[in-house]
Amino acid sequence: MFDQPRTVLLAGASGDLARAIGAEIVRRYPDIALLTLSRAAVDRVPGHAGERRHLTVSLADEHSIQSVEAFLSEFSSPPDWVINCCGLLHDKFHGPEKSLAQCEDDWLVQSMRINLLTHLHLAQALDRKLLRKQPLLWVSLSAKVGSIGDNELGGWYSYRISKASLNMLIKNLSIEWGRRLESSCVVAVHPGTTDTVLSKPFQGNLAPGKLYSPALSAGRIVDVVEQLAPADSGNLFFWDGSRLPW
Ligand SMILES: NC(=O)c1ccc[n+]([C@@H]2O[C@H](COP(=O)([O-])OP(=O)(O)OC[C@H]3O[C@@H](n4cnc5c(N)ncnc54)[C@H](OP(=O)(O)O)[C@@H]3O)[C@@H](O)[C@H]2O)c1
Repeated sequence: MFDQPRTVLLAGASGDLARAIGAEIVRRYPDIALLTLSRAAVDRVPGHAGERRHLTVSLADEHSIQSVEAFLSEFSSPPDWVINCCGLLHDKFHGPEKSLAQCEDDWLVQSMRINLLTHLHLAQALDRKLLRKQPLLWVSLSAKVGSIGDNELGGWYSYRISKASLNMLIKNLSIEWGRRLESSCVVAVHPGTTDTVLSKPFQGNLAPGKLYSPALSAGRIVDVVEQLAPADSGNLFFWDGSRLPW
């Protein structure tokens, strides 16, 4: 396990799960320094006594690498925890494809931008700031449907493909940073189906009790994060702390 965090960086911070995770972290560590990255403004969590810094940025944009790097340079050391919540399942005109016939290049590319590149760009921005002796805990919110080993239903092409790509990024990062840093843990976490704008159109077929509130999922995710150790690096975790196949 890692020491209690002093600084947490939360990306995609205006999202429903991200806001709940921020609130949960502040509930557990009221004096934490909380850094947020988002396209939108993000309010201070009530009861937060620690430092609060925000950068308005779209991590989908390649130029975000320089902006985030400059933002991180304002601090004497990199964050202890990084939690990236960026992700996309649908927009006004697109949703998960049921069959190959519904796949469109543009939507797949957009899914890759948000589900993969937002995480790659943040990793690139952080990369040069990392210190060999400072432990790092990195969590990307991924999805169980991005697991190739777990895929028995098919469909949801763009989301599955882009989350599977994110999972490979996490594996690669765990290897590269595992070599460079004395202590690190880089993982992907599946939050469970949570009542957010992302899942809203797809909540109809869920079994009773299988839709969780953002606060409940956030508590479970932070529980998982608090239990992580360097030996866990390079894995995809379910919200209960068990491992999912890649
Ligand atoms: N909700 C679920 O049931 C569920 C299940 C499995 C996995 N997940 C994963 O959990 C994470 C958080 O999901 P959520 O339910 O909280 O969704 P959400 O409320 O839609 O938040 C997703 C965040 O992703 C970023 N994002 C979305 N579209 C973007 C775009 N076009 N350009 C740049 N950034 C964009 C946004 O960050 P900013 O606007 O703040 O920059 C947004 O706040 C996602 O990675 C999702 O795939 C969710």
